[in-house]
Amino acid sequence: MSWVEETKRRAALEAVKEVRSGFVVGLGSGSTAAYAIQALGEALRSGVLQDVMGVPTSYQAASVALEAGLPLTTLDENPRLDVAIDGADQVDASLNLIKGGGGALTREKVVASAADRYVVVVDEGKLVEVLGVGQVVPVEVLPFASAFVLRRVGERARSVHLRVGSGKVGPVVTDNGNFLLDADFGPIEEAGELEAWLRSIPGVVETGLFLGLADIVYVGTRKGVRRLVK
Ligand code: A5P
Repeated sequence: MSWVEETKRRAALEAVKEVRSGFVVGLGSGSTAAYAIQALGEALRSGVLQDVMGVPTSYQAASVALEAGLPLTTLDENPRLDVAIDGADQVDASLNLIKGGGGALTREKVVASAADRYVVVVDEGKLVEVLGVGQVVPVEVLPFASAFVLRRVGERARSVHLRVGSGKVGPVVTDNGNFLLDADFGPIEEAGELEAWLRSIPGVVETGLFLGLADIVYVGTRKGVRRLVK
């Protein structure tokens, strides 16, 4: 396992300690959240935890949970979650995030908002001083509106592209049946204003700016795990 993978795994293992028996847990998507899902499955198998269920934010998270033996439930059955554990693409000092590299941002934001505590797990390479430096902001859009939203966002962004998949020709289609735009705004000084502006565009479903949502961030480093609290 590479050092980056090891630091992701360390962060995930610490985050799983936030989970108690009987909890319903939001399951984030991506490679770091997957380590947490696997650890939850292991904790159930070994009896360290009991009666834990997960609400997955993507087909990927559901598949990792099924393989790990972590029972799944839905937001319909559990509209309030005890905790959600999720990865991120960038984290700033105020624990604001950019997410959506894996295209699961909309369900991730719903699950984050439904959770009493939103716990984020990252490797130290995800920590930044200013969001948006070297990182696009993913925006989920209705397919019908994608060209229009692309034009609008392009009036403000340095560049914006429709996300195109590998393993499939044409646009990436999210688990919700929508398209994704990746917009480069450069350094984002006024993230709240940008988020409000993006969401004001008809056809935008959700953005990858997660502002004021994270309660705790576990940061895996070569020396150990740092715990950042809001
Ligand atoms: C999924 O849409 C994303 O928000 C991921 O949580 C994010 O891209 C982090 O993924 P990794 O843990 O794989 O870096």
